[in-house]
Parts: sequence; structure tokens; C-alpha cells
Amino acid sequence: MDYEQSFTQYEQDALVAIGVATSAEMLEQARIEFLGKKQGRLKDLQSVLGTVPVDQKPIVGKRFNEIKERVTAAWEQKQLTLKAPKKAAGSELDVTLPGAALALGKLHPLTQTIEEFKDIMARLGFESEEGPEVEDEWHNFVALNIPEDHPARNPLDNFYLSVASTVNQEARLLRSQTSTVQIRTMERRKPPVRIVSVGRVYRPDQIDATHHMMFHQMEGLMVGPDVTMASLKTVLQLFAAAYLGESVPVRFRPSFFPFTEPSVEFDVRRGNSWLELGGAGMVDPNVLSACGYDPEAVSGFAFGLGIARFCMMRHGIDDIRHFYENELRFLQQF
Ligand code: DAH
Repeated sequence: MDYEQSFTQYEQDALVAIGVATSAEMLEQARIEFLGKKQGRLKDLQSVLGTVPVDQKPIVGKRFNEIKERVTAAWEQKQLTLKAPKKAAGSELDVTLPGAALALGKLHPLTQTIEEFKDIMARLGFESEEGPEVEDEWHNFVALNIPEDHPARNPLDNFYLSVASTVNQEARLLRSQTSTVQIRTMERRKPPVRIVSVGRVYRPDQIDATHHMMFHQMEGLMVGPDVTMASLKTVLQLFAAAYLGESVPVRFRPSFFPFTEPSVEFDVRRGNSWLELGGAGMVDPNVLSACGYDPEAVSGFAFGLGIARFCMMRHGIDDIRHFYENELRFLQQF
């Protein structure tokens, strides 16, 4: 008689029957069949024990007891599981599972870009300043050396909210550029200053892939005893390298702005073409004077960059309108 084989077979069958039991009735059936005292598989096994030669009895008996204990333990464990109160479907909490992360919202790609811009500029020593989006003509034009007859002041090219009248002392408009914050900063603070200001600007442009009537700019201003064009080029070059990568080629082209002299346009190379990312220059002495600074004692540079353009360039976004349409399939990619 091969005791070992009968033992193994018994244990295997018993554990399977207990394992598959899904109700108290099935488990009771398994108990009767495998652990019943009067009859059943255990009883059969026990009767076999009687035929074991005396010298082998202690070993085979021990083996029998071990197996019986294991099957009994498995049965008791299963009984506890089946008795455990059933929870409502879906409410089971398995604390051993790894945390299931909720899909959190994300920052808008432009917000991410703005944060990164401020961060880069902070590392270059530029503090962040804010200015209002509703402006007067002094801050949006006059102090910036933009004369009354300048085309930029055409009411059709601006969002005027009110005109000067006996009721309104001053005309109000949505700012058309963040250069307003240069003026506000210099009016409030003594030199030296080193600031950036990020925000929305508004122009009644025809909306297309590269234009919107509302967009974001970053204005930069640095004024001190010996700020030069070399300082400007260095800062813009470092900025472009930090955001677009060390090797990005940059170019400065002569240009004109009423508030800077000399003025440049700032381009970055993309593939085979140069992309214009903003304007810059040395702050015009008239602007310094308008803010109460002495143009003989200090000089400064300023720049204004289109934020969306940088973000579009880095991510290969082909249309500025994507930023303002709140299309989740677009936003979720950032
Ligand atoms: N304000 C200009 C614009 O909206 C950009 C600009 C050019 C800002 C030159 C500056 C600057 O500060 O120096 O197009």
C-alpha cells in the first residue's frame, strides 16, 4: 500500500473542495466528505492506518495527523471567510492595494510657460511685477513716448472702454502692451530696477493661427548706472537658451519702437527660418524722464516677448487658438 500517495491525494482533493466552496452548504458538504468522523475520506484513510506494519506506525501516524490538521485549518479559515459580513458591492476597501491616483487637473500650458519664464528670470535676478489690465493713456502711450498722432493710438486699433469727457477725466482702455508696467514700476521705485511682468494684453486683431485679440506678453526692464545693449543681448540670449535649449541660435535685428532707442527685434531660429519672438531696446531717455529718472545718471534696457509663441515653438503647436478653446484633448497633453 502506498500510504504517501493516498495521503497526498486526500489532501489535494480536500483543499480543492474547500477552496471552491462559495456557500455554507458547499463547505458543509466538504466537511462531511473529508473530515467526517463516522464516514468519509478521512475515515477511509484512518482504516488504512490499521494495516501499517508496527515499526512504521509512528512515522505514518505522524504524517496522517499533520495532513488532518492542515485540512482542518483550511476548513476553519474558509468558514471564517464565508461568515464574514458581506459588504455592498464595490465598497470593499483593500488597504494593501497601491493608491489609485485620482486624475488631478493640470495647469494650463500657458500658465506652465509663465511659471517657467518667471522662474528663469528670477534666476537672472529679475523680480516679478504686476500691473492693471485696464489702463489710462498715460501709462499705455504718453509716458512710453508714443505721441498723439502715432498709429498705435488709433481708437480702432485699441479696446477703448471710455473716452475723456467731463465725467471721465481720463480715457480708459484695455492695455495693448505690458510696457505699461515699465512706467508703473519706475514711477514707484528708485533705480536700480530689474523686473519682469507677465500678463494679458488686448488688441482688436483679426483672429487667426498666429493672432488673437487677447494674448500674453512678458515685459522686462532693467535700469541702473551702467546697463548697456550688451546686457540686453546677454539676458535675452540666456533666457532663450534656458527655455528653448543651449544651442538655440538667436538674432537681433534693428527695428523701431517709440519707447526704445536703439530698438531691436529678437528672433530665434527654428528649422530653416527665423521666428520673431519680441521687441527690445535701450529705454528712450524720454521714457526715463517721464518717470522721474535722470537719463544722465542711469540707462536701461527693456523687452517685450510673446509668451504663446515660445510655448508653441517648444511644443510644435501650430495654432494659437488652441490655447483659448478649452479643448481637453489639447490641454491634457501638457
Ligand atoms: N510693447 C511692444 C509690443 O507690444 C514690445 C516691446 C518692444 C516691448 C520693445 C519693449 C521693448 O519693452 O523695449 O509689441
